[in-house]
Amino acid sequence: MKCPGCWKMLTVAMCMALVACLQAQELQGHVSVILLGATGDLAKKYLWQGLFQLYLDEVGKGCSFSFHGAALTSTKQGQEFITKVLESLSCPEDMVPRRCAELRGQFQQLSQYRRLRTNEDYMALSKDIEAQLEHKGLREAGRVFYFSVPPFAYADIARSINSSCRPGPGAWLRVVLEKPFGHDHLSAQQLATELGSFFQEEEMYRVDHYLGKQAVAQILPFRDQNRKALDGLWNRHHVERVEIIMKETVDAGGRTSFYEEYGVIRDVLQNHLTEVLTLVAMELPYNVSSSEAVLQHKLQAFRALRGLQKGSAVLGQYQAYGEQVRREQQKPDSFHSLTPTFAGILVHVDNLRWEGVPFFLMSGKAMDERVGYVRILFRNQAYCAQNEKRWVADQSQCLPRQIVFYIGHGELGSPAVLVSRNLFRPSLPSESWKEVEGRPGLHLFGRPLSDYYAYSPVREQDAYSVLMSHIFHGRKDSFITTENLLASWVFWTPLLDSLAHEVPRLYPGGAESGHLLDFEFRGTQLRFSRQQLEQLVPGPGSAPKPSDFQVLRAKYRESPLISAWPEELIAKLADDIEATAVRAVRRFGEFHLALSGGSSPVPLLQQLATRHYGFPWAHTHLWLVDERCVPLRDPESNFQGLQAHLLQHVRVPHYNVHPMPVHLHQRLCAEEDRGAQMYASEISALVTNSSFDLVLLGMGTDGHTASLFPQSPAGLEGTQPVVLTRSPSKPHQRMSLSLPLINRARKVAVLVMGRLKREITMLVSRVGHEPKKWPISGVLPSSGQLVWYMDYEAFLG
Ligand code: BG6
Repeated sequence: MKCPGCWKMLTVAMCMALVACLQAQELQGHVSVILLGATGDLAKKYLWQGLFQLYLDEVGKGCSFSFHGAALTSTKQGQEFITKVLESLSCPEDMVPRRCAELRGQFQQLSQYRRLRTNEDYMALSKDIEAQLEHKGLREAGRVFYFSVPPFAYADIARSINSSCRPGPGAWLRVVLEKPFGHDHLSAQQLATELGSFFQEEEMYRVDHYLGKQAVAQILPFRDQNRKALDGLWNRHHVERVEIIMKETVDAGGRTSFYEEYGVIRDVLQNHLTEVLTLVAMELPYNVSSSEAVLQHKLQAFRALRGLQKGSAVLGQYQAYGEQVRREQQKPDSFHSLTPTFAGILVHVDNLRWEGVPFFLMSGKAMDERVGYVRILFRNQAYCAQNEKRWVADQSQCLPRQIVFYIGHGELGSPAVLVSRNLFRPSLPSESWKEVEGRPGLHLFGRPLSDYYAYSPVREQDAYSVLMSHIFHGRKDSFITTENLLASWVFWTPLLDSLAHEVPRLYPGGAESGHLLDFEFRGTQLRFSRQQLEQLVPGPGSAPKPSDFQVLRAKYRESPLISAWPEELIAKLADDIEATAVRAVRRFGEFHLALSGGSSPVPLLQQLATRHYGFPWAHTHLWLVDERCVPLRDPESNFQGLQAHLLQHVRVPHYNVHPMPVHLHQRLCAEEDRGAQMYASEISALVTNSSFDLVLLGMGTDGHTASLFPQSPAGLEGTQPVVLTRSPSKPHQRMSLSLPLINRARKVAVLVMGRLKREITMLVSRVGHEPKKWPISGVLPSSGQLVWYMDYEAFLG
């Protein structure tokens, strides 16, 4: 043979043909699709069409099908309904009408209605399928059960399928589930456990129809096919912000009973927008078509999401909503719903790729337009010397640079992928994406369409049709696994809890909302850009507003007391700490700060991390007031809290950070390891006179402070500067600065927050110096100053 590479090529071609053959064989056989809830809205609008599309795509490729529409409706009514729906099914535009009619006819023949109510009904269905297979001499490939029913019906149906309607050996079972998958983490977990008792994980296909939207489904392939160009760009050095947006013009009228329970965050942010977020933020798997790799990278992205706080969200409610709820649910006039129909959320991804890049998630009903997109806006780091008139789209670095996955609707009217011409020419699969034809006058995201390389699908497909095909081909990466679902609820549930009583801002809806819903961020906080003049929805109770009070200065246990609402109190304490730090550095060249753990200091650390740019971190030493005897990487560790909320955001030299040595010789707080003595030596070596510039303490509901507890005498007096103690709550073993060492400090600040502290605050205000009963009462710096910082709830109740 003259051509040396030919054998190789021939062998490869033969192998490929063989693989194709084997794949085709594997698909061969009969597939039964059972659509539960076949007479419902979703089925009527999308699912029957999706099944028809599946048939059109697969007919003649070796598989035979039967479609069973099922519901609780009587056979006669159900059959009538289905006949009507089937008549309205459409074919792709490029199919000739005769062929379309022929295929629709075949599909109608294969589709039947049956009532499925009892376990016996499921048994009968299974028998009928088996009989049909036998009669036609077909091998069963598998069964798809599509649950288009409310979640309360899931368990019974799942039980019946599992006990009476599984396919025989060698054939697969796929159950397809529609949201809602729970209401919060706990309910999602319960539902998942219940379903898990009937089905294997690989049998379950939880639908998020946004994963079937063509622009969303293109995110990973796009990142993969443009790896080279994106490698240096897809990170915090280049991306200014990411916007993940879904605006709708429709409102919640007609479905308020569902909406009242869910609201916009549960309805679309927890699922659709979060899925999109993970596709943008995740590290790109080496093999983007491996479902397992995609899932693992998604989970990794979830782990990097910074926890949301109340201040990460702005909420709105369109004005007509309240009335709709009262009318549809027969509520009295006095009923005011707090359910948000609009939400803007600021998300941060705390990893090296995305640190500091804001991700805006936003969705709303009754907005001025219907549109969905993901927009990645890049920083502009260039200065262009020529006059703006001479800037050319594909050359000028000064024009905005962005990549947009346009999910649909809006000005463009179809899904698209847009890449600014001054970025790079993207590569997209030409068999499925084509360049968009010019549309003079059309501007998107501030630029004419001609400024972008713009691609749209060759054949626009509805999300459900895409997903039907993925179910048939077992492509699990387009569906939500249990782990994925629970990770999302872990992320959203604390925010939902904290917002439960938040009063949303009212907006008129449509274009009339004007700039009322514009929002902006400062640090980690999101807020509406415009102040609202009046609150139209009364909140529960008439709690006084922060502006009703000033920061209060008084005395507590003979020492100065500062009291305010939490936010102001934290701001004041942070200011005071900074002022103390600046003074200490000016006088001594360094500042020694000892910090307590627990939840009260968290907002303080965040405040210091995000609002105090003048803080002399480079000259600050950070010490721990106390520590739990757990490894430093344990979430319970006080040092871990310091790391998460402060250290990773500021620049303190490593040698100035002094964690407590609770973990030595691979054991925790063993006396023989002399960790407490080591810490004391370190303090005495570095802190003049072992006198900290500032010690921040808290006060427990039992009167403990640092890790000095009423039940444990260690550290209340004596000469040991650092001691091992026991806490009544877990983890019991602790290491703590002693009272005598604390009292050597130049300044001690005690931060007390929350209603739960009210009782102990009252009690301690009356007691004398009794550290054995209330260790906090032993805090009295010998020559330094003590200041109490209490929020109104702790101080006034
Ligand atoms: C659904 C929500 O999941 O998505 C609806 O429950 C929302 O409230 C819908 O209207 C939006 O989907 P699409 O495909 O119209 O963007």
